[in-house]
Formats: sequence, structure tokens, C-alpha cells
Amino acid sequence: MGSRSWQGLERGTGLGRGDGAAWSAHGHVRPCPAGDLTGVEATIDVASWHASDREAATTFFRTSTRDLHEAGHRAGATQITLASIIGIAVPFRPSVQPQRFHWYLGVVGDDIWGRLADQFADDAYASVKGYVRTYVMHQQLLEHLPPPPAPVLDVGGGAGHQSFPLAQAGYDVTLLDPSSAMLDKARQRLQRLPAEVQRRVTLLPADGENADDAVNGQRFAAVLCHGVLGYQEQPGPLVNQLCRCAAAGGVVSIMTGNAKTTAVRPALERRWADALAAFDARTGIGVLGVPSRADTVEELSELIRSRGVEPLCWYGVWLFVDWLEFSGAELDPSDAQQVAATAAVELEASRRDPYRQLSRVFHLVGRRGSS
Ligand SMILES: C[S@@+](CC[C@H](N)C(=O)[O-])C[C@H]1O[C@@H](n2cnc3c(N)ncnc32)[C@H](O)[C@@H]1O
Repeated sequence: MGSRSWQGLERGTGLGRGDGAAWSAHGHVRPCPAGDLTGVEATIDVASWHASDREAATTFFRTSTRDLHEAGHRAGATQITLASIIGIAVPFRPSVQPQRFHWYLGVVGDDIWGRLADQFADDAYASVKGYVRTYVMHQQLLEHLPPPPAPVLDVGGGAGHQSFPLAQAGYDVTLLDPSSAMLDKARQRLQRLPAEVQRRVTLLPADGENADDAVNGQRFAAVLCHGVLGYQEQPGPLVNQLCRCAAAGGVVSIMTGNAKTTAVRPALERRWADALAAFDARTGIGVLGVPSRADTVEELSELIRSRGVEPLCWYGVWLFVDWLEFSGAELDPSDAQQVAATAAVELEASRRDPYRQLSRVFHLVGRRGSS
């Protein structure tokens, strides 16, 4: 479809420009440069919707975004622009000064992570689910890593949520990521850590598919790739590089979507038709609103084995916090005692059947042969 874009525009609110103090489905406000909406070749007007209920508005926005991405993806769009305006419809209530409204404009193109950086690195990790993910995977990794110091490569490492704790534990971390926005986030987060930890971290702009060249053939005691594979059309090329960058006896650690649990999320969100269709689906729109793909433990195990890395163990990541979130419960990330208790339960569940089998993501750990 060449350069064709699809634009989804929520219309009819008749608003002026926001003051930056509003809420949004994504939890933050972005500037709305009008120029970004020009030059669009095809438009899908998803819908207009008027009501004052915040929950319903958020659900509406998420559903519209998902529908838009699915339609655009099916049509082979190379760029998808979506916009929403949420606020008070001034023409209908002229006496009310709009104080709480929001503009959102997102363009999904080459560096989708440039636009998702805040949502992923700040919002998602600030939640109980974010804390559980880091904690559980850190514990799982420590079961297999050699003691520090040892070199660790984090491919698609994003803002460093998984590998900075390893640097704090004494490992020498190379964080490789193609997104300059994510690397900026990593840099900002790194600056808040002690100087000796900062010295143990190298940030490297590169695609995972070119990891071996980007690290000049260095070999690592551990190669991590968490939450990246699901955004690749095929797992092979990236897995190839992960296995190649691991030293003899080194660990390869991959976290990705579980193709056997794809019905969980739509079912918990009470989208029953979607849930029924999802049982046999491998692809869909993930929680970040972009297309993603899932794998099975068995297939990925075979893939790393064929590249000289023997699967050692696999785990679930979250279960209960994930299910609670999708069914609408709110967990308080500031309640440290509750969060620690939750993380302990999740860690136990991540290691045991049948719990780990039901996790929407899995963590596979393998070890490269010694030759
Ligand atoms: C969901 S985030 C995960 C970040 C980090 N691994 C974590 O667990 O917090 C996905 C990351 O993959 C990166 N990414 C996307 N395509 C990639 C590719 N081809 N090679 C390496 N990283 C990639 C993105 O820039 C983004 O930082």
C-alpha cells in the first residue's frame, strides 16, 4: 500500500487546545501539532462518543485504537495516525470553561517505540504489574547467571528496567536498542544511579538483528531479550543473534507472549467474541496498542536448540496481577507490604504447573554449549 496512512479521528467535541492538566487513556497528554494530520491518504473515522464516564471513555478509546490498528494492519498500512480529543463540548455548554480535557495524537511508523516510550517506561513500570515483572524475572535470572562481575547483553533493553538491577548487582551491562527515545529514557534513569553503577552500563543504538556486528563480536555470559520478540514478524533472525552473542556456557534469556493463552485477556475484558477467536490466534493488538505475535515454549525451545543453546528452564511471569488488572481491580503500587507479598506469590506461581502455563507471557532460559 506504499505510503498510505490510516487516520482515526474522534470528532465532534468542538474543543479548544488543552492545558496539559488532563487525563487520558494512556495516562499522559501529548502536544497536538496540527501539521501531523495533513497529508493522510485514507481516513477511518472510528466513531464519536459523548458521555462523562471516565472508565467508559477509556474503554472506548482503547477499543477504537485496537480496531484502527487491526484494520490498518490487515490493509498493510505502513503508517497509522490516530487522534483522540477528550473533554468538554464547549458549544453544548457555553458557560463551562474547559479545564479538564486532553489531546492525543500518535503516529505509528518506523520508530513506534518513540511514541510508546513514556507509556511503557514510565506508566507500565510504575504499576504493581511492572514491579512484579522486574522482581520475578530478576530472581529467575539469578538462578542461572554466574556470580558478578560478568558481561551481560540486553537486546531491546528499552529503559533498562531489567538490566540496571543487574548492573547494581555488579554485572557489566551492554544495553542495545534501536529506539533513540527508549535509549534517552535509559540514559535518564541511569543518571539517577550511583556513579559506579553508571560506569558498568554501556548504551548501544542498534537493531537486535545486527547485535553481533554492533558489539564487535564480543561474547557475553548472559544475553537477555525481554518483550521484544513478539514485535518481530519472525523470531528466527533475532534469536539467531541472541544465541550467537552468548559465550560458551553463557545464558540466553527470552521473555515473550505465550501463544497458548491468547484468549485470557479478551475473556477477562469480557470481549467474548474476541476471546473465542483468540484461542487459535497468534497475532493481535497487545496491551501497548500495537500489533504483536506470540510463540510457544516448545517452538522457541526448538529454535534456540537448533542454534546451539540448550533450553534449561521456563517460567511464567505474571498471573494474578495480570488477571486482576484486566478484570478491573486496582492495585496500589505505594503499598510496599502488599506489593512485596504479591511479588512473592507471583514468583512461586511462575515456577509451578499449572500456574506458569496460564501466564500470558513466558520466560525461557537456555545455556550455550561449551564449544
Ligand atoms: C516492550 S519494550 C521492552 C524493553 C525491555 N526489554 C524491558 O523488558 O523492559 C520493547 C523494546 O524492544 C525494542 N525493539 C524493537 N524492535 C527491536 C529490534 N528489532 N531489535 C532490538 N530491539 C528492538 C524497542 O525499542 C523497545 O525498547
